[in-house]
Amino acid sequence: MIMTIIKKSFTLSIAVIVCISGLEAKNLPQLGVNSIDEVVAAMTLEEKAQMLVGIRSATRDIPDAAGYTYDIPRLGIPTTISADGPVGLRIKPVRDNDPNTYFCTEFPCSSLLASTWDIQLISKVGEAMGQEVKDYGIDVLLGPGLNIQRNPLNGRNFEYFSEDPILTGKMGAAMVNGMQSIGIGACIKHFAGNNQETNRSNNDARISQRALRELYLKGFEICIKESNPWTLMASYNRLNGDFTQENRDLLTSVLREDWGYKGIVETDWTDQRNTPRQVKAGNDLMMPGCKGQVDEIIEHVKKGKLAQADVDLCVKRILEYIIKTPSFKKYKASNKPDLKAHAIVSRESAGEGMVLLKNEGNALPLNQQDLKVALFGANSYKSISGGMGAANVNKPYIIDIVQGLENAGYAIEPVMKDIYEKYRAYQEVKITQEPNANGWTFISYRRPILPEMEVDKAFIESRAQETDVAILSFGRTSREGTDRKVDGDFNLTETERILLKQVCKEFHARNKKVIVVLNVCSAVETSSWKDLPDAILLAWLPGMENGNAVADVISGKVNPSGKLPMTYPIDYADVPSSRNFPMEGISKSRKDVDYTNYEEDIWVGYRYFTTASKDVSYPFGYGLSYTVFKYSNAKVKQSKGMWQATVKVTNTGKVSGKEVVQLYVAAPAGDLRKPSCELRAFGKTRLLSPGESQVVTMTFSSFDLSSFHEDISSWVADKGNYKALFAASVSDIRIRVPFFLSKANVIKTSNALAPKTTINKLDF
Ligand code: BGC
Repeated sequence: MIMTIIKKSFTLSIAVIVCISGLEAKNLPQLGVNSIDEVVAAMTLEEKAQMLVGIRSATRDIPDAAGYTYDIPRLGIPTTISADGPVGLRIKPVRDNDPNTYFCTEFPCSSLLASTWDIQLISKVGEAMGQEVKDYGIDVLLGPGLNIQRNPLNGRNFEYFSEDPILTGKMGAAMVNGMQSIGIGACIKHFAGNNQETNRSNNDARISQRALRELYLKGFEICIKESNPWTLMASYNRLNGDFTQENRDLLTSVLREDWGYKGIVETDWTDQRNTPRQVKAGNDLMMPGCKGQVDEIIEHVKKGKLAQADVDLCVKRILEYIIKTPSFKKYKASNKPDLKAHAIVSRESAGEGMVLLKNEGNALPLNQQDLKVALFGANSYKSISGGMGAANVNKPYIIDIVQGLENAGYAIEPVMKDIYEKYRAYQEVKITQEPNANGWTFISYRRPILPEMEVDKAFIESRAQETDVAILSFGRTSREGTDRKVDGDFNLTETERILLKQVCKEFHARNKKVIVVLNVCSAVETSSWKDLPDAILLAWLPGMENGNAVADVISGKVNPSGKLPMTYPIDYADVPSSRNFPMEGISKSRKDVDYTNYEEDIWVGYRYFTTASKDVSYPFGYGLSYTVFKYSNAKVKQSKGMWQATVKVTNTGKVSGKEVVQLYVAAPAGDLRKPSCELRAFGKTRLLSPGESQVVTMTFSSFDLSSFHEDISSWVADKGNYKALFAASVSDIRIRVPFFLSKANVIKTSNALAPKTTINKLDF
């Protein structure tokens, strides 16, 4: 009897609880139905803290995705998923107990994409990437990277667009607009001053306010204003003393107050730091996230050390982001992206961004397709499609240069093909036996770069007799977490140098041409050997269609129109930042490891070389074509508050081609010393037939002409006489047109990010 009463009252209380919580659930605000403020108000402190911290796996787990946000089903908040990276989606291609595959398209590296100077094309690449992201059920792609290529040795240069902030910002915006037009989010990174990989988690980048505003922040500013990315990643490093992730000056004063950024800020994949400081700075989301960070937020709010309002603001911004995602919209992923269509986009963009550095005696194109080709260089038989680390993509295949040339109909000399392929097989086995073979680099890349094979003189001599032309490729790749070296990386190795010399000697002795293909991740030394071959094609890291795209240009199917987004210096020591960049052998000293003084200030790349009248191997903006273009009828006029520069470009050669026109501006003398000229706008023609012309229009505002004046925390464009330089490269100015700014343009900003130490300035 007693038992029955207990049982009955127990059942009754359960029923009451279920009923109350049912009622509660019914009345709970839901994301997307109620206002975001109502949803935030219904969250517990624990839930809010958890919302600010990523989770390592979720119910909807996608193998090798980079991270997830927390879900709160009772409030209608789903998990969202982000994955790398800047050259295509990186997820695991095969899954346990699943016969399907999940390969993704590898697109060309960002430096190649910038070499196209083609906004529509980059948008198209962004759309294709975004479509794969959506088709695989992911919400955010962690790219593009917008850091400035301050130094050729930075291990991540291939993930970045340019040494110039305008080109960086415009390319970044094109990519983000393309991706986000599909309904997924972009994540621009790594904000900011992450221009070296050595000790990247602790290095303090010490940069003047002027260099920051004009160079290192400018690309982000343009991209944000022109494309409104959903998310932005704060870098690992410190900037003028503070970690960027804890830096309110950077993440709130500059980013949100000066520029009006509306999206969320997330950390790069960092372990626990000072979480309350990150929240106060305006860093909304800690990735990849750990429990300690959640606890720290709760504890600090409870003790009154972290304002509830600061936490709420971050939560609110995260919810504003979530509501836009495919996950929130319950998008049903097909897991079947159109890899064939995207491979075409990858190949097309790769061909458009290759840069013809030299073409003596019209050595290229090789349009006689039954030519017998002597294909030298280990890299030709195992070519590099992309870089390593977060930018690696698990692609379905890579077309090596040998295969691409064969696909195009060239006959590759069979004996050397056989030898090189055996060498490749030998090296591939050898590397698995080496220490570190199972390390992260090896695993994530799976295609280690082959050391060059030694080839003897007699062999080269006999190949020169039997074939019509020599093609020789060299490869370089790099990755995050480490920087490149000068010896054997920026410079050619001894084996490569000897090979090149001997091939040129034997082939030239028989009146046959030598073509060099540079399959490289950033600038390399060219000056000491560029006189030797007849033609040099810079193929960059062109993505998985590598060989096909190289063959497209070599055969003339594609007329090259790429132009350099970075200077190729004569010597590494000529680069102004080489005095303040980590070098092998000095890694124990604090300088350039614990902190890096940006002594070169704004004098990065062509800004330095042109102003100091210092010779380079190949200048910024340089690239040849199989045709020639004439510039005429250049004009600058003001219309509706903007400047409009126009120039007529005529193809005066014999084949169809496209031309990239660059508009540099030389400013009048004012308070500040300025570069002799700076890129302010650019444009590209459509494919022009021989004899055909097109008027290229480039616009810029008076604000675009300004320099940053630290004393008054303002952008200033001085009143006076300016010169618009219509140019084919920074050192090939075709037409100069003066124009007059009748009133100075001054725009005030916050006085943020002043260095805390004295930085000596480069004197030249
Ligand atoms: C890289 C980021 C990347 C993240 C997630 C970090 O190590 O710096 O670029 O997006 O990992 O994989």
